[in-house]
Amino acid sequence: MDTQVKTPWAPGVQPLIESEKLQQRIAELAAQITRDYAGKDLVLVGVLKGCFLFMADLCRKIELPLRCDFLGVSSYGDETRSSGVIRITSDVSRPVLGAEVLLVEDIVDTGLTISYLLENLRARRPRTVKVCTLLDKPARRRVQVPIDYRGFTVPDRFVVGYGLDYQGLYRNLPYIGQIEG
Ligand code: IMP
Ligand code: MG
Repeated sequence: MDTQVKTPWAPGVQPLIESEKLQQRIAELAAQITRDYAGKDLVLVGVLKGCFLFMADLCRKIELPLRCDFLGVSSYGDETRSSGVIRITSDVSRPVLGAEVLLVEDIVDTGLTISYLLENLRARRPRTVKVCTLLDKPARRRVQVPIDYRGFTVPDRFVVGYGLDYQGLYRNLPYIGQIEG
């Protein structure tokens, strides 16, 4: 894909990671997860809403029996900066006691969301909790968080597409792009 070619309905978005590259990398992550979790009681816990496309593609490439669950989290208003205040807006549908939990995130930015979720989930005594994020934006990290599976490291720009939004928009772009300006 020519990264200069923009999507007509999203002219302010500069392509950064094309969809073929996303799928290739997701296949690699899934292969690694398949090896690491063989014989274990794996539960993917997606962090809504940003995870929805990544989780859909990732779980279909993991060759193991697994469960899918979701958490709704709100940390952002309509701003591009974290408020630092994290709230669980909808919880997982089954207890995670004794399970091998893999949190599935779209992006780790300040780390505040994942750090809060790790603490919250650990209190429910799963066997393990690990983190799988499609994107890692280390430039603005405020708390160190363990990232067990990382798709791509991105620069300190606001990125959208493939589940990630700006003011609710652009989640349906098939690639990752950056907002210009
Ligand atoms: P953190 O708590 O700062 O690590 O932020 C995590 C959440 O903020 C992510 O799950 C996203 O929903 C959102 N976020 C952070 N950076 C971006 C970005 O560049 N584009 C879109 N959403 C972002
Ligand atoms: Mg998110």
